[in-house]
Amino acid sequence: MKSTLASYFEKTYGRPAEAFAQAPGRIEFIGNHTDYNGGLTMGVAIDKIVMAALARRDDKKLCFASIKTGEKVLVDMDDLQKRDREHNWVNYPLGVFKYLLEAGMTADCGFDMLDMSSVPPGAGLSSSAAIELSSGYAMASLYGFDIDRKSLVRIGRQSENLFVGMPCGILDQGVSGYGKADSLVYIDCLTEDFSNFPLPHKCRFWLFNSTKKHALVDGLYAERHAECMEAARVLSEGGKMRLLRHFTMSDLDAAKEKLSQKVYNRARHVIEENARVLKAKELLERGDIAGVGRLLNASHESSKTLFENSCEELDYLVDTVSGVEGVYGARLTGGGFGGAVMAFTDDTFSQTQANEVAQIYEKKFGKKPMIFACASGDGAKTV
Ligand code: GLA
Repeated sequence: MKSTLASYFEKTYGRPAEAFAQAPGRIEFIGNHTDYNGGLTMGVAIDKIVMAALARRDDKKLCFASIKTGEKVLVDMDDLQKRDREHNWVNYPLGVFKYLLEAGMTADCGFDMLDMSSVPPGAGLSSSAAIELSSGYAMASLYGFDIDRKSLVRIGRQSENLFVGMPCGILDQGVSGYGKADSLVYIDCLTEDFSNFPLPHKCRFWLFNSTKKHALVDGLYAERHAECMEAARVLSEGGKMRLLRHFTMSDLDAAKEKLSQKVYNRARHVIEENARVLKAKELLERGDIAGVGRLLNASHESSKTLFENSCEELDYLVDTVSGVEGVYGARLTGGGFGGAVMAFTDDTFSQTQANEVAQIYEKKFGKKPMIFACASGDGAKTV
């Protein structure tokens, strides 16, 4: 990919790129909506990446070009404002640059930038985190910033929260930053500790994208975020504000009367999901993959009934794929409200079986899901 991107860069800007970096998309393995609650979560970096190429300019402008359309967007370095709808693809690298500068990095000139991606957009694989991390690494390399992995991961999230305006946690950027082939990334979102531990041999990930996207998905994500914070606020009453991570089911049950049924259910999902993540880690270490599969399905059931971020299409995909030979378990992955289902399978699960699932889905909903077979891959790095 690097040589193709290098030649596109020369064609676009009339000179060679000076810095290259890549970062992967991710699959959320288990730990749904736990991250911004200071909870536990696990993901896998995949073998599909975004690569960014940069070269210095001799003025104070930043130029972002689209490989697809050839369009160029020019931004003044002294005016790093969020772009409007039409150019919102620029906001991901732009936000990263802004927060790198705010973190004390200095850039004496602007840059030209071009990205290339094998992460399918809108498939639930977090192409946005892959853009943020590849941009951050490429910028650090171009200017010689002295910055570590954790700071780049945090800046990716900060950019998404404060610049793009999505109140996500650190899962996507953390997995894209800390991924490792044949490994899971385990994240304690409270302490922001990232660790890798081995995936069982011969397992695979299949992603079935329902192609349904709830029109209000961003608003619904923010609504769930607010409901969780509301539960945490009530549970923290009388002490300092703590996140849901700090509470147990008995704390929640003791406060039940102060919470609406809806807010109670959201908090219950998060508290029990944290416990499922811990259990999944333990079972993986013991080699009980069937047990892990059951936890994945339990996670989905909780999303469906308590957190209410599933939908008919995702439920149907989970039910259909879970019954197929070679599948350990399946669940919705990522924010929900449409989007994708992940199936965790052994290495006998085949494209033919995946196509059969797709056909059954198409019969019911009149549209084909997108299917992606993913292997694990490495995290962000300069190349
Ligand atoms: C999205 C967000 C993540 C996380 C998941 C749900 O992918 O970007 O931070 O909250 O949803 O677990």
